[in-house]
Order: sequence, then structure tokens, then C-alpha cells
Amino acid sequence: MCGIVGVTGNDNAVQILLKGLEKLEYRGYDSAGIYVNDLQGNDYLIKRKGHISNLEAAVGPEVHGSVGIGHTRWATHGVVSVANAHPQFSEDHRFYLVHNGVIENYKELKATYLSDTTFASQTDTEVVVQLVDHFVRTQNLSTRDAFLKTLGLLEGSSYAFLMIDSLDPDTLYVAKSKSPLLVGLGDGCNVVCSDAPAMLDVTHDFLALHDGEMVTIKPNSVEIIDQNGNAVSRKPFHVDMDPSETEKGTYPYYMLKEIDEQPNVLRKIASTYTKESGEPNFDDKMLSALNQADRIYIVGAGTSYHAGLVGKKMFEKLAHVPTEVHIASEFAYDDPLLSKKPFFIFLSQSGETADSREVLVNVNAKDYPSLTITNVENSTLYREASYTLLLHAGPEISVASTKAYTAQIAVEAVLAKALGEIKEQTIAEDFDIRQQLGFAATGMQAIIDDKGRIENIAKKYFVKAPKAFYIGRGIDQTVSLEAALKLKEISYVHAEGFASGELKHGTIALIEEGTPVVGIITQKKTAALTRSNLQETMSRGAQALTIVRQGLSQPGDTIVTTDINELITPLLSVVPAQLIAYFTSLNKGLDVDKPRNLAKSVTVE
Ligand code: M6R
Repeated sequence: MCGIVGVTGNDNAVQILLKGLEKLEYRGYDSAGIYVNDLQGNDYLIKRKGHISNLEAAVGPEVHGSVGIGHTRWATHGVVSVANAHPQFSEDHRFYLVHNGVIENYKELKATYLSDTTFASQTDTEVVVQLVDHFVRTQNLSTRDAFLKTLGLLEGSSYAFLMIDSLDPDTLYVAKSKSPLLVGLGDGCNVVCSDAPAMLDVTHDFLALHDGEMVTIKPNSVEIIDQNGNAVSRKPFHVDMDPSETEKGTYPYYMLKEIDEQPNVLRKIASTYTKESGEPNFDDKMLSALNQADRIYIVGAGTSYHAGLVGKKMFEKLAHVPTEVHIASEFAYDDPLLSKKPFFIFLSQSGETADSREVLVNVNAKDYPSLTITNVENSTLYREASYTLLLHAGPEISVASTKAYTAQIAVEAVLAKALGEIKEQTIAEDFDIRQQLGFAATGMQAIIDDKGRIENIAKKYFVKAPKAFYIGRGIDQTVSLEAALKLKEISYVHAEGFASGELKHGTIALIEEGTPVVGIITQKKTAALTRSNLQETMSRGAQALTIVRQGLSQPGDTIVTTDINELITPLLSVVPAQLIAYFTSLNKGLDVDKPRNLAKSVTVE
């Protein structure tokens, strides 16, 4: 949530900041701003509501400088307005600050130290920049010491800060706790960003910052100190990514590009995590730790949580290990009763979700083994877990997650097979995951090639619908949750995913003439039951539609997917639902990639 960029020592600061903000726009897009200084006494503060393009349009040719900071906002404290957009500044316009996170005790700090200060915004962030100014003026502290003193007062808060003192402008003051932040090492310049793709035009070498650290950055130096004031030396990591991977090319929206990429992602996962013989290919140490667990706990949020629900079925069927799946934000503060030998699996596309990270911090404090399955190398959840597996899905930019979901399921499937083999479960030994992922990739491509027909379905049944349902049983029910989430988050159709047998216990009261109800039918055991539940909705006026595996199809089915092993059918049944959501949003004229009220990476709890 919120994207941060900064640069010092580059005459192209304005372009670097704006380009960086464009790349980070998926993190928040309700307002944006930059502060730039040319070190010759000229500085510029420009902020606008709405997308980065509004900010870009407001930055005239006169705006120039070699140092600056920028921000794209997802509002937490204070409405969406120019005043609440960042950078926030001190009353005397000496200090400028951008922030990602939440200052929990900002009201107390304001009351204690700043009763005489005039505030220009409703944000928690402004309290921080006013405090720095306050300590510099009233206690004669240096900027660095005032910044450090302020950091020491922020109880239980999450923050990534980037600050400039306009009286000594070529220095960037940086601090981080819980919210992600990287320092990029350039040639004669240094940069700061929430996420590496924002700065790949400047550098591919980054330093990850740890919680509690404070950094002073000049064009040719980076000094990190830990929370006890000790100097920290850290090796940079190299990001081997082509900047074009984050472009959408000829696609109208990232979401469509990312849906289309799914067959290749499955092939990549098959070749990375299985040998040519078809055997899983994982680190033995990780497998042995997993094998010692008496229960697996999968933790995630949103789409990642839904992928975890599919994972549970696979770990229980293939490896016979009891598996619980938890919503990260619930698990973090619920203190659930754990088994004697728990093993935690964190699913997170971004690797930065604050709710999941909070659980991992507790897991680490208790020394439990953990595995993060993520798409982002060197992200916080990647760095802090005992073991990691990458999704290899390539950058996912659209707020609606698509390829990460199918990639998570594919990696879980290979892992469950590996564990099942260690436990000598025949069902796992007979499950040729490499071959099945190949079949799934081909089946996905067939659905994607038929997208014109799916667009017609979206136009006919969903674009004007005020509400819709996806229903199914077992693994199909888990996909119904993801299908409904896709539809609601980008098309604003009130959608629910439901256990088809549970509808008649209350929710069927919502069915009206024409309400679209999509039955997901991929499991032999429950196919007839779901069909009869669909009939019940039709008798009450619903427009019934089906997404069915070929072997179970009947004349009149709406979308038929190819046959693959029943354990991995979500890889196919979700794709029509992704496309229905995409085309519904598109045909309603909405911004598919940046739906209202949302942000891609949810870095506040
Ligand atoms: O990066 P993560 O996978 O941890 O993100 C979790 C959720 O915020 C994310 O899946 C969200 O639900 C998506 N917008 C769904 O499309």
C-alpha cells in the first residue's frame, strides 16, 4: 500500500521519480506527489488527486532537480485530497516526508508535542514530519538526531519513511519498520523504492532494509544503522529482471496479459520443480523439515488464501497430512491452538502482505519451521521464512491476482506429491505431476483461445447483473470463492462463492429472476449433486451457467474444460471465471487493473 521513490545525485530526478511512481502505481492510486530540489535554492512540491498521469500532467518543464522523493497513495488516515497526498511537510516548509504504513500513536504524539503547530492535512504522516521539525527547533538537534528521536516515539507503528531536509537537500533520510523499502545503488547516484521494478532503469543492485534500521543516503554513500545505533554493513542483491517484463506491451490491460501467461507459468513450474523423470525436485532439507510436521498450517490473504484452500485438499489427499488453512489477519491475533510439530506455509504473491508477515514474526519467535511460496525474490516473507520457493510467474501488476493463484496451486501440487512420496502414499506415487501440469497448460490455452465466447457470456449475463453466484462442492467450492472475488473486485458485481449444498439453508433467498449462478463441476463424486443444486436455483428464476470438466459434461453446458486429474482442476476451472470478471469489468468501462478502493500490495494490517 502506497509506493515510495527517492533519488539523490541524478539530474534526471524528475523523470526517475515519475517513471518509478508509474511502476508503483499498483500499490495505491488515489493521489500522488513529488518534491524535487535542484541544490541551487529551487524546489518544487507538486501533488495531485487521482492517477500518476494527473501528476505528470501537472509537472511543467520548469520542474527540475537532482534530488527528490515521490509517493503514490492508498489512503488510510484522511480522505483522498491534495492536502492529504504526500509528500507531507513541516509548518515551515523545511522538511518533506513520504510514508507507507500507519502511525498508531499519532494522536497522542500530536497532543503531547505539537499543540501549537498548525497542521495542513488529516494524515498520521504529517505528525512525523512536524515532530522532526519540532525537535530540530526546540532541542537544537541535528536533522539526523531529530529523525532518530522521532522514530523512537512511534509505538507499534508500521512505516517506510523517506525524508529530505531542504536546508541540506542532497541527503535522503530513510527508515523502515514492517513496511517494505529498498535502497538502490546507482552510478554516482542512489535511489530508494518500495519495489525493485520501480528503479530498474537506474540500477539492478539493491540493499534490503530491515525493521528498525535508519539510513542516510547521499549520492555516493549509504550508511545504515540498526536500532541500537550500530553501523550495519550489508551486501547488495542483484535483481535479474528485464524492465520490459513489467510493461504490458500491446495488451489493453495487465490482467489480460497475466491471464494469457498462465500456460507458460505452469510449464516453467513443471521444469523448475520436477525432473525430466517426473520426480519432484526440491531441497532435501526443506522436504525433511516438512516431513517431520504432524500438521501443516497454510496462511494467506485474499487470492493466496484461496490457493491455500486448494493446497489443503492436495496435502491431505496426496500426503495424508492434516492441513489447516488460515486467513492471515485472523490468525495473527487469534492465538490458535497448534499441534506439537507444526509446519507453516505462507502463500503470498508479493511477499509483503502485512497480515501474513505478522503471523511469520510470531512463528519465527516460537522457532517453528516455515516455508514462503512467493513470486518476489528478496521480499520480506521470502527473507524471513526458513525456506522459500519462488512462483516464477513473472511480475504480476494487475491488482486482481490471476497467474499467482494458478502458480501457487501448481507449486503446492508438486510439493504435496513430493511429501506424499516420502510418506510412501500410493496415490502420490501414481500422480504424474509433470505430465498433469503439461495437460493443464494445454487445457488453459484452449480456454484462453476461446475468450471471444467468454466475452459474449460476460456481456449477456454479467455486465448488467447486480449480483451473481459461483457454486460448487469440495475443491470446486474453493474455486467458487476465488471466482467470486475476481468478479466483485474488478467489476463491482456483488458476487458470492458458495458451497452448493449450503445454498438452500438460507442464501437461496437472494436468487431472483435472471441472477447468474455458475456451477463449477469437476469432481465425479459431487457432479450430480451440484447439478441438482443448480436446478433448485433455476426453479427460482436463476440464469444457470456451468464450468464443467469434459468427462462430466452434458449437452447444454456453458464452458467445458479438458480433463485433468481431479486434484488440480482448479488450474482450469478458475480461468473462465477470471475471463468473465475481466470482460465484465471491461464492458462496464471500468479500470480493470486498478479497481476502486484497492491496492496490489497490502502492507498495512
Ligand atoms: O501478495 P499477496 O498474495 O499476499 O496478496 C494477498 C491479497 O491481498 C491478494 O491476493 C488480493 O486478494 C488480490 N487483490 C486478489 O485478486
